[in-house]
Amino acid sequence: MADISSISTSEGLADSSSFFLPADSFFTANRIALTYDDVSLATNYSDVLPRQTRLETWLSDTLRLELPILSADMDTVTESEMAIAMALRGGLGLIHYNLTEKLQLKEVIRVKNHVHGLIQDPIVVSPASKIGDVLKMIEERDFKFRTFPVVDEKGRLVGLLAGAVVRHRYAAKSVAEAMIPRAEVVTLQEEDLGDNAVAAADHYFSQHMGIDKLLVVSAQDRLQGLFTLSDIERITEESSSQARASRDSKFRLVCGAAISGARKASGELDKDRIVGQVGQLVEEGLDAVAVSTAHGHSKGVGETVRLVREVFPELTIIAGNVTSAEGVGFLAEAGANAVKVGQGPGSICTTRMVAGVGVPQLSGLYVASREAAKRGIRIIADGGITKSGDAVKALTLADAVICGSLLAGCKEAPGKIIEIGGKLYKQFRGMGSHEAMKAGSAVRYGHDKLDVNRKAAAEGVEALKEISGSVDETLTQLAGGIQSGMGYLGARDLNELKAKARYVRVTAAGQKEAAPHDIIEIKTAKNS
Ligand code: XMP
Repeated sequence: MADISSISTSEGLADSSSFFLPADSFFTANRIALTYDDVSLATNYSDVLPRQTRLETWLSDTLRLELPILSADMDTVTESEMAIAMALRGGLGLIHYNLTEKLQLKEVIRVKNHVHGLIQDPIVVSPASKIGDVLKMIEERDFKFRTFPVVDEKGRLVGLLAGAVVRHRYAAKSVAEAMIPRAEVVTLQEEDLGDNAVAAADHYFSQHMGIDKLLVVSAQDRLQGLFTLSDIERITEESSSQARASRDSKFRLVCGAAISGARKASGELDKDRIVGQVGQLVEEGLDAVAVSTAHGHSKGVGETVRLVREVFPELTIIAGNVTSAEGVGFLAEAGANAVKVGQGPGSICTTRMVAGVGVPQLSGLYVASREAAKRGIRIIADGGITKSGDAVKALTLADAVICGSLLAGCKEAPGKIIEIGGKLYKQFRGMGSHEAMKAGSAVRYGHDKLDVNRKAAAEGVEALKEISGSVDETLTQLAGGIQSGMGYLGARDLNELKAKARYVRVTAAGQKEAAPHDIIEIKTAKNS
């Protein structure tokens, strides 16, 4: 308890600097483990508007993100579609490892080769089909469009079937009879897309009045993809108002992927397999590898990080998870550029209940951040972010946050949509749940895949997330909240946010006061 005499100014008023403490004084004064809802941030004088704040961050000396948000390497959160959406909005997706190495590589390739706006696998029809077949396909697959490129059996473009002729009255006619022949179809050569495919397509549509589909072909006239005018107009509108994408030096979207320390039957690290897997990923342009386990301060993780660092000196390595200064130091010495912090804060985690282990997240971040600063490495707050205010608090100590639950309901997350009682949900499960461990992640929790049914205690649950729109919408809310927080603290960038943060403890009454109360809410605020 502060002594009242020491917190009075000459006018006899309380000086707020004695109540609102910077991180070192606050966390050492509160020798109790705290998490996001246990604290609030005090405001500072500010001459910064939220929209003037900058959110870029670095996960290593070479990997810069426009937005300090990563999607979790979980099999119900991040595959290529999520990773593409994350990078387009300035963040980074970590492709999970409950896939074969070949399939994981394929997912990374999809991200690294993604051309924004280009539909890479458009639905095509064959010249021999009847219009009636096309109508049946539209109905069965519930397509909202009726225009299709026509390709031969070798994938070469032979025409375009315009929506205007896809009608029942022409059902008996063949596609070949009804299509616009190749010579009259406007196309763009793949190599003419250049660095900015959206700008190239935009220019093309302006030059060709009335055309709303632009087909991209290879030098051999094979169909490579398709732009639609409506997509390009939407993207151009968005890009003038929104944050930039995170890209590598070759203008490709950034992408990360998780690996585990694969072992041989004898129990020793399978070095060839690890090096082979990472080597292939790096060859395709992988920007960061995440050595993801529940216990990062352990022999196997240290050996894996050391091995990857030796063979790939330039690669950004993320490793974890830890919640102690010693853990951060251990992984930094092994060669990690960024360390994931969090044991048990995740929405689907039961580690603290099952193993009795873990540290409430904000205190874990505090100890980790002090060691990381000494070692010159970054830390990432992993798990437990339920609203943008949590992300602001996390970013006063960490360089980025990882989100699982907040993104698992987005349309870009993998998994089927399930309808229950008229509401739509997506499956979401802990990587330490029985089902996920059986699919491959057992090693993350120190178990053998074969042990899972018999003796491994699950450290995660299986759940559902209500469908929550797109990644773009979710990240816009989150980024907006972070920028508001920065505006209140007078922080222009994330370094200033760290330097200016002052914390205060919150009681149960304070937590109640922080949420909407004594009203009947008619619309729930999203993530904020
Ligand atoms: P949120 O709260 O964003 O957390 O959903 C995502 C993070 O949770 C971790 N994770 C787990 N932790 N058991 C655990 O103890 C699990 O089954 C599990 N699955 C995921 C992981 O760090 C992820 O990024």
